[in-house]
Amino acid sequence: MSSNRSESLFAPCPRGLEALLAAELTALGADAVTPAAGGVGFAGSWETCYRANLESRLASRVLWRVREFEYADEAGVYAAAREVDWPALFGVERSLRVNLTAIRSPLKSLDFTTLRIKDAVCDRFRDACGGRPDVDRTAPDVRIHCFLERTHGTLYLDTSGEPLFKRGWRTEAGEAPLRENLAAGILRLTGWRPEEPLLDPMCGSGTLLVEAAMMARGRSPGAKRSFGFEKFASFDARLWQRVRENAAEPASHAPKLQLYGSDNDSHALAAARRNLAAAGVERWVKLEQADILTRAAPAPSGVLVANPPYGERIGSEEALARFYPALGDALKARFAGWRCYLFSSDTRLAKLIRLQPAKRTPLFNGALECRLYEFAIVAGSHRGR
Ligand SMILES: C[S@@+](CC[C@H](N)C(=O)[O-])C[C@H]1O[C@@H](n2cnc3c(N)ncnc32)[C@H](O)[C@@H]1O
Repeated sequence: MSSNRSESLFAPCPRGLEALLAAELTALGADAVTPAAGGVGFAGSWETCYRANLESRLASRVLWRVREFEYADEAGVYAAAREVDWPALFGVERSLRVNLTAIRSPLKSLDFTTLRIKDAVCDRFRDACGGRPDVDRTAPDVRIHCFLERTHGTLYLDTSGEPLFKRGWRTEAGEAPLRENLAAGILRLTGWRPEEPLLDPMCGSGTLLVEAAMMARGRSPGAKRSFGFEKFASFDARLWQRVRENAAEPASHAPKLQLYGSDNDSHALAAARRNLAAAGVERWVKLEQADILTRAAPAPSGVLVANPPYGERIGSEEALARFYPALGDALKARFAGWRCYLFSSDTRLAKLIRLQPAKRTPLFNGALECRLYEFAIVAGSHRGR
């Protein structure tokens, strides 16, 4: 890909965020933006590709399409992979990993097909330079993704490397943290504006708060990490330098932020504190240890967003069935005037909280189907409706 030529790219994202990602990529200069299930196809130059990696808050990766093909069996996939001029794309000294995803593919063994793709890449290198790249399954320099449908296949080079939700600031995982791009998507879906107070009263490791602060301060989500494209033969270090310099500078006109986080668990709060510090946004967020069932609202109105605990064990299921009505009562008693958003995979929440959701947006957390519930709390509200 030369600097200005337009290439085909695909950015996977959590399902439910495709339309928001399409808008984000358009704003980053992408062309031919086409939302699909689980991601967005687009066209762009290397500059657009670098920008998308550095600045997209919603994409999980940016994949560069290197070949499309028709196939009937493993030999057909091998032949298609062998036709790609891999030695022109990356050096033989780079380590490699192949990932394969298949939907309705007739192939019997995906593991065997993955090996055949790896063989095709290595055979192509052997023909060209007498050597072959090593395989590294944990920290490869270069990742090749193959996507197979019934008769159609696509080979991609991963321009991101580590997935983009790994921003490089997380030091503490805490209990069931949200992925960073899902947290950013939830914030976008709430319509929160940096002028408004924002509270996460079950903040865990602080993901929503870090993402909110980064957004409000105009910080690039990828500023603290490296990317797969830096290992490609065509890597243009000067262009990359320019893209980094042009990336959103912390806005000097940024409003005074009112970001609040709390959790009733001191360990979770300590993790949030360390994560906020590692991301360099701790000064914008006020944290305190508090129980959502008793804490006061930090402002007369604002946006409350949280990812309540969810249970897989029977005991915690019962505890949650008691927690949801108490949470509904707490919101009604102390958060009149607030727009409240709860993100959960637990379908009992909407019923047991005894508040009428103004909106429910389906969103996937990996394979787990979730909902983002919006509740507009007005004084003396909706019990029993
Ligand atoms: C699923 S985790 C939130 C994860 C968080 N979004 C993140 O990305 O790290 C739920 C959190 O709710 C907290 N929590 C549970 N009950 C609470 C309560 N009554 N008041 C405040 N926090 C509570 C737990 O300590 C836990 O950190």
